[in-house]
Amino acid sequence: MTAVSGHVSAAPDTASRSSLPGATPLAGKVAVVTGGAGGIGASIVRTLAAAGCTVVVGYNASGATARALAADLPGQGHRAAPAPVTDSAALAALAADVDEEHGRLDILVNCAGITKFVAHADLDGLDDDLVDRILSVNVRGVIAATRAFRPLLAHGGRGLVVNISSIAGTTAMGSNIAYCASKAAVDNLTKSLARALAPAIRVVSVAPGLVDTEFVKGLDEAWRNRQVELTPLARLADPDDVANAVLAVATLMPFTTGAIIPVDGGRPLA
Ligand SMILES: NC(=O)c1ccc[n+]([C@@H]2O[C@H](COP(=O)([O-])OP(=O)(O)OC[C@H]3O[C@@H](n4cnc5c(N)ncnc54)[C@H](OP(=O)(O)O)[C@@H]3O)[C@@H](O)[C@H]2O)c1
Repeated sequence: MTAVSGHVSAAPDTASRSSLPGATPLAGKVAVVTGGAGGIGASIVRTLAAAGCTVVVGYNASGATARALAADLPGQGHRAAPAPVTDSAALAALAADVDEEHGRLDILVNCAGITKFVAHADLDGLDDDLVDRILSVNVRGVIAATRAFRPLLAHGGRGLVVNISSIAGTTAMGSNIAYCASKAAVDNLTKSLARALAPAIRVVSVAPGLVDTEFVKGLDEAWRNRQVELTPLARLADPDDVANAVLAVATLMPFTTGAIIPVDGGRPLA
């Protein structure tokens, strides 16, 4: 991932992908990452692959990017596959495909998500179509993907679902009020699903603060710098911070389920 640019005061202190004890703690395991070609998804994909996992890079519109990413990963068996989270039939087909190809699924990362900046007071700017699209992808998509892959995840008795939510779900500060509500719903789903799917499947939210993706780099620089100033750890999150949290949940936290893990540099404390 591209490093945080010069005007950010603190140097990134993210752990490197190879720093976890044991070179390939996820060897022999299989993961599906929805939104796997996106800014955060690609980092999760690379991190899981570096840990020895075979990864299916799920995409919606970014097939070429997903295929290039899968081809560039360390290890064997990675591939890109359509995973449109508003199309339950397509998700079921992918689950059948993963079963046939790999006969297992250990980790599902629900990373697909959409948003658009609309000021919170601008209720007219948040039309029904935008609200429906945000809720369909960010909330219904998590349910649909978990439903589709549940039998495979449960099969080995140690499945894991990681939902990429956002601190917007708890702070109610974010790109628009429907997005904030969608991420609150994701965190709520994490708890319900953790209870309902235990003990065979753990379900955890990883909740980033503002992540320094290409999209965020393109926003107003003064606003972005203000977010850094308001963050006690004095930088934005790097996609690798999020990916390393997913890796930690998958490797070092086997007794954690139904939890919401912030990756936000302490931003809500300011
Ligand atoms: N960036 C941040 O500051 C931040 C902070 C907190 C949480 N998050 C969350 O992190 C996740 C990834 O965000 P990002 O920053 O990496 O954004 P991104 O680069 O725009 O990635 C979004 C991903 O979602 C996928 N997607 C969109 N609609 C889809 C659909 N209908 N079906 C399947 N996939 C779909 C896209 O796939 P295609 O390109 O293939 O269409 C893309 O890979 C999102 O859930 C977001 O809410 C981001």
